[in-house]
This record gives sequence, C-alpha cells and structure tokens, in this order.
Amino acid sequence: MNKLDLKILKDELNHNLLTVYKNGPKSLVEPINYVLSGEGKRLRPILTFISANACGGNHRDAFPAAISVEILHNFTLIHDDIMDNDNTRHGKKTVHEKWDSGTAILAGDAMLSLAMINLQKCKKNNSRINKIFVDGLLAVCEGQAIDKSFETKSTVSIEEYIKMIDYKTGHLIGMSAEIGALSVSNNNIFCKSFRKYGRLLGRAFQIQDDLLELYSDAATMGKSLDSDFILRKKTYPMIRLEEEHPIELNNALKLIKRDVKLGKKSIQLLLLESGIKNEIEIFIIKIISDANELMKKNNLYTSEIKNFSSLILERKK
Ligand code: IPE
Ligand code: IPE
Ligand code: MG
Ligand code: MG
Repeated sequence: MNKLDLKILKDELNHNLLTVYKNGPKSLVEPINYVLSGEGKRLRPILTFISANACGGNHRDAFPAAISVEILHNFTLIHDDIMDNDNTRHGKKTVHEKWDSGTAILAGDAMLSLAMINLQKCKKNNSRINKIFVDGLLAVCEGQAIDKSFETKSTVSIEEYIKMIDYKTGHLIGMSAEIGALSVSNNNIFCKSFRKYGRLLGRAFQIQDDLLELYSDAATMGKSLDSDFILRKKTYPMIRLEEEHPIELNNALKLIKRDVKLGKKSIQLLLLESGIKNEIEIFIIKIISDANELMKKNNLYTSEIKNFSSLILERKK
C-alpha cells in the first residue's frame, strides 16, 4: 500500500476542480468556478482516495470518483444555502447572495450534471458506482426534506434526528468511501465496510457541526452560523434541551432574537450545566470509535483511516 500525501492530493484536487467547467454561458461558468475555487476541506474526496488505497488499489484510479463527490457536495451546499437562507460559505458570499437564487439553482443543477459527467470516467464497476451515486443523491434530498419539515415541528426525537442526519450527511460521506473502494476492487466486504464507516463518520460529523454552530464562530467556520436558531432547526443540542429544559430553552431562543451573542451564551451555559454538552461529546466519540472498530474487524484500519477518524473528531471548522 502506498502512503498518500494528502496535502499534494488536495492541491491536485483543487487544481482539477478548476478545469471541470471552462466553456459555457458566463452565468454558469462564473458561479461554478467561484464555488469550486472555495476553501472547502475536501474531506469527501480525500476519503475516496483513502478507501481506494486501503483496498490495495491505486488511488489514482479513484480520481474521477473523488472529483465527482466533491462537485456533488458543493452542489448540495449551494442549494442548502438557499434553503437555509445563509449568506456566507467558505469565507465568501453564498451564490444566491452574490448573484441571485435563479443563478444559484441553475449553477447547482449544472454542477450535478458535471458530477455525473465525471463519474462516467470511472473505469471499474462503472454501473455499480453510478447506481450508488444516484441513490446517495436521492438520500441527500430526502434528508434535506426531513430537515426542513422539522423546522415547523415542535418535538423531534433523537431517533428521528439521527435518521435525518444519516440521510442528509451520512449517505454522501458513506458513498464517497464506498465508490473509492469500488474504483479499485470488487470485494463486497471492502465496499460494505467503507460504506458503513463513512456513514458513521458522517453521523458524527453532523452532530459535531451542530455543536460547532453553537461554540465556534463564523470567521473560523467560514460560514454564517445563525440559521439553525432563526429557522428553529432541530439540532442535537436543541432536541435534548427541549426534552430536559423546555422553558429555559424557550427563554434563550427569545433572547437570541434580541441579542444573538447573549442568547447563544445562555444556551451554552444550559448545555454545560445540564451535562448535555458532555453527553453529546461522549456520543460523538462513541460513534467514531464504533466506526474504527468496524474497520479493525475487517483489517482495514490503516494509519490513514485512523488519521481521518481523528481529523473528524478534532475538527474545529
Ligand atoms: C458542510 O460540510 C455540510 C455539512 C454536512 C455540515 P463540510 O464542512 O465538509 O464542507 P466544506 O469543507 O466546507 O466543503
Ligand atoms: C448540510 O446541512 C447538509 C447538506 C448540505 C446536504 P446543514 O445545513 O446543517 O449544514 P451547514 O451548516 O449549512 O454547512
Ligand atoms: Mg445549511
Ligand atoms: Mg441545511
């Protein structure tokens, strides 16, 4: 197995992403290249490479799949930012903010096509990869639909929440890992293990994102952070506070409307004093440790998988 230089791979990815759509109407070329030149972490394509490598294949064979998942991810972000009415992403204006919603919707649509065009370049297991890709795409849409429906629901259980985040976030990360494996191997145990690993990592990633939305700041995260509260998103901390301290939560949410900073502080205090923050952190660690155990059981726990799990666990943005 080769040792991957993730920094070089990320540079190559970034370079390649800027070549995927050069010729076309200006109103598509500009927003698409604006998005693809953004400061994304590139976690999904990196996982595609790591999984191809862990399966004993040449990660280069997973390049089209890696490019494809990153384009798909960025398409989902453009539409998500319209849905969440967010104005900053990757440290700059969102597409609908810089241009308008029509431009953002169409740029997203075209990026989905570009993702699929790139996927056709996968040499091995092409039809299987295509099927997994469209299934993953539908899962994201379903997760987003559930997320949106929760905005107007007063109570949501943790079980319903987990299903929603598995769909909106877990499936795409699971798919990124699985198609990396399929790009180099026909081994079903490899594919299944990577799919499960990615989905678990995606689950942990989204719960952590809910926490970061409360504890980090827009400058560090490079994205606007208050839509969760404005839209009454049912995030893990909000669901648990609603279960245990509904009156205090309601007061804090009222305060947020008047003073975001103070309101957030009071939610932070509630989470700390109730022990819910600690509970969530332990839960994230448990999910990632289950994912690692799964890989160990199947002899796929490479140093790169170990590092990837730690990267997700320790991420600050
Ligand atoms: C953002 O994902 C969307 C969520 C699933 C929370 P990332 O944090 O991986 O997006 P990048 O790194 O900005 O592209
Ligand atoms: C992002 O969910 C998931 C998808 C884009 C499908 P969020 O709405 O929670 O993520 P951020 O906070 O905008 O990145
Ligand atoms: Mg959002
Ligand atoms: Mg959203």
